[in-house]
Amino acid sequence: MTHKSILSDKEVDSILAYIRRNKSVDLASYRRTFVVRRLSGRMENVSAETGGAYLNILRDDPEEFGRFLETLSINVTGFFRDPGVFEFLQKAVLPEFIRKKKAAGRRIMRIWSAGCASGEEPYSIAIMARGITGDDPGFEVAVHATDIDTAALKRAQEAVYPGSSLGNAGKKVLEKYFTPVYNGEYLLKDEIKKSVHFKRQNLISDPVLKHMDMVFCRNMMIYLSTEEKDSLIGKFNESLNTGGYLVVGKVESVWNNRGFETVSTTNKVYRKTV
Ligand SMILES: C[S@@+](CC[C@H](N)C(=O)[O-])C[C@H]1O[C@@H](n2cnc3c(N)ncnc32)[C@H](O)[C@@H]1O
Repeated sequence: MTHKSILSDKEVDSILAYIRRNKSVDLASYRRTFVVRRLSGRMENVSAETGGAYLNILRDDPEEFGRFLETLSINVTGFFRDPGVFEFLQKAVLPEFIRKKKAAGRRIMRIWSAGCASGEEPYSIAIMARGITGDDPGFEVAVHATDIDTAALKRAQEAVYPGSSLGNAGKKVLEKYFTPVYNGEYLLKDEIKKSVHFKRQNLISDPVLKHMDMVFCRNMMIYLSTEEKDSLIGKFNESLNTGGYLVVGKVESVWNNRGFETVSTTNKVYRKTV
């Protein structure tokens, strides 16, 4: 018998209630099947035969909760994750968008990386934008990056990354924007760092940023229930200027009738219509 089959609904509820009360993490908005699968995995690892036994381990071993959170893969990320998406934006979306902005006399484009983890995504965006605008003093691309995880945000602000997270960046980007430090790690140069502004924010309960031209929310909504996801997409619509873009993860999607039209199905790029 697998552990999954003996983890009853009631036991899952008790574990989630314990985590909510004692760890201040509310997993209710996360997809239940996803959470249950990860819980079952941890139970197997610690040889807990029932939900009750696992709850006792959670209570007795302060490190177990961290291990469980890790299995939710909440922080998995990397520079230029899904390189095709960045290539598409760099070639087919941003140059024209920036040209129009400039023609309309605008001097700034605002991009929001919502659920930015340890900074790899917003820094990739800033590097991509720099490749288009160059050093133009008359036009700024400001990247706002938010996440709920303060430890991840701290790592983001330090901007030191292992070579392994830079695999998709390419040699040219590495040489141009990073300085090797020690142990195969690289420090991002200030010219990119200073265009990214980090802030702690809970996407479910805090107010959204406004007047954005582009919002990236990638690989975060997969953890949400359908209702929470719908509500968040509505919030991104409010956050964007008309004609602005929403970019979601490769396994996520937005429905056309939610104030967005599809720009690229493959790359999961949408444009706000209303
Ligand atoms: C898997 S990472 C994705 C990072 C990056 N967007 C990417 O695609 O590589 C998901 C991020 O969402 C953040 N997150 C999860 N729930 C959140 C919430 N309610 N509000 C803000 N950020 C949240 C996590 O802390 C984590 O850093």
